[in-house]
Parts: sequence; structure tokens; C-alpha cells
Amino acid sequence: MKQPVILKGSHRSNGQSSQYIDQLVEELKKNEIYPQVYDINRLTVKPCIDCSVCSNSYGKCVHDDDMESVYEALRATDVLIVASPVYFNGITSKLKQLVDRCQMIFICDFKHGRPYVDNTVSETKQGYVISMGGANAYTDQFTGNALSLGLVFRNLRMPLTEHFTYAGTDHSEVLSRNEAKDDIEKIVQNLKDFYQRVGEK
Ligand SMILES: Cc1cc2nc3c(=O)[nH]c(=O)nc-3n(C[C@H](O)[C@H](O)[C@H](O)COP(=O)(O)O)c2cc1C
Repeated sequence: MKQPVILKGSHRSNGQSSQYIDQLVEELKKNEIYPQVYDINRLTVKPCIDCSVCSNSYGKCVHDDDMESVYEALRATDVLIVASPVYFNGITSKLKQLVDRCQMIFICDFKHGRPYVDNTVSETKQGYVISMGGANAYTDQFTGNALSLGLVFRNLRMPLTEHFTYAGTDHSEVLSRNEAKDDIEKIVQNLKDFYQRVGEK
């Protein structure tokens, strides 16, 4: 099935990044691509407590919460799209909590020597980050997002295909910008080409 996984990371379920994703999902559906969308505000994801359960037992986490479903989705998908505003030069705290829980995925490799995900070459996967910063553009505004999320993609054996960044979102709406419309179109086209190339999973 053509099913990208999308994580909405804003603490506002109807904020700009969320609206951007809704628009993207609408366009994808027109092309018969049906993403599985997670809104961080609707998930219970407890913080990683560094308890070593994942070090002692392959693929296990001490917590029993919505991360179970996210782990499975991350394991199964070949396309991951993560949207996050910039909060204090990094991803949002709720999304960071989810990212830290990907330590279990890292430990599968690092401690157990067996990847959590299909260890195929990265050409068969695609990853996207969409970041929005309220302030006008400044140096390193999106670097924190790229670094934190970059590690998640690495652990998923997924390339960070593109990082779309939008500054000044507190001054103008992203979806009214031609740049954003073009970017959404580009993601849709990329995914259409991608699924055609790698076939349906
Ligand atoms: C706690 C908090 C911290 C923020 N820190 C930054 C920041 O460091 N840099 C920046 O450009 N914008 C910052 N912003 C502004 C948000 O990035 C901006 O409002 C963004 O559009 C929010 O995304 P959303 O509309 O998807 O909720 C911050 C906003 C909040 C609430």
C-alpha cells in the first residue's frame, strides 16, 4: 500500500504546519496516496527514562503507550514526513519526546547489531522535514530541527530527501505563499514518481 507516515509536531493542531500537512494530504489523496497521519497532540508518548529495557531486550520499550503504534508505522513505511515549528531553535517538546523514544530503534542497531527496520538501500525510502519558524529568517533557525530529526531518519535507514523551511510564519501565512504551494506540489510529484519506481509495498 502507498502509505507515507506523517507526524504533525506542532502543539497547535490547527496551526500553520498542521494546515500545511492537511493541504498536502488532500493533494496526495487526489493521487491515490493515503498517508497515515499522527498528530502529536492526540498521542500519549511518555518520555524515554533511559531504563535499559531496550538494551536488554531487542525491540522492547518499558512504556506501553501510543508509541507502540508509531514504532510499527515507522518500521513498515518507506516514506516519512515530519512537520514541526521551531521552538527555541529546535523541534517542539512533544515531538522531541517522541524522537527520544526512537532510542529503542537506535539500540537495536547499536547494542543488538540488528536493525529495527528493513536494512535496504536508501533509494527505496524517502524522508521529508517541514519546518516553520515564526521569526524572520536568521542563521541556524532550522539547524536544530534538521539535526534532531536527521538522527531519526538515519536510524530508519531513510535519506533526508528534502528539508522545506519557512521563516516568518508569525508575519505571513505559509499557505498563501507560492513557494509553499510549489513545495507541496513537488512533494506530491516526488512521491508519485517514488511509488511508481519502487512499486507498491
Ligand atoms: C515556545 C515557542 C518557541 C518558539 N521559538 C521560536 C524560535 O526559536 N524561532 C522562531 O523562528 N520561531 C519560534 N517560535 C514561533 C513558531 O515557530 C511559529 O509561531 C510557528 O508558526 C508555529 O507553528 P504552528 O503554526 O505550526 O503551530 C516559537 C513559538 C513558541 C510557541
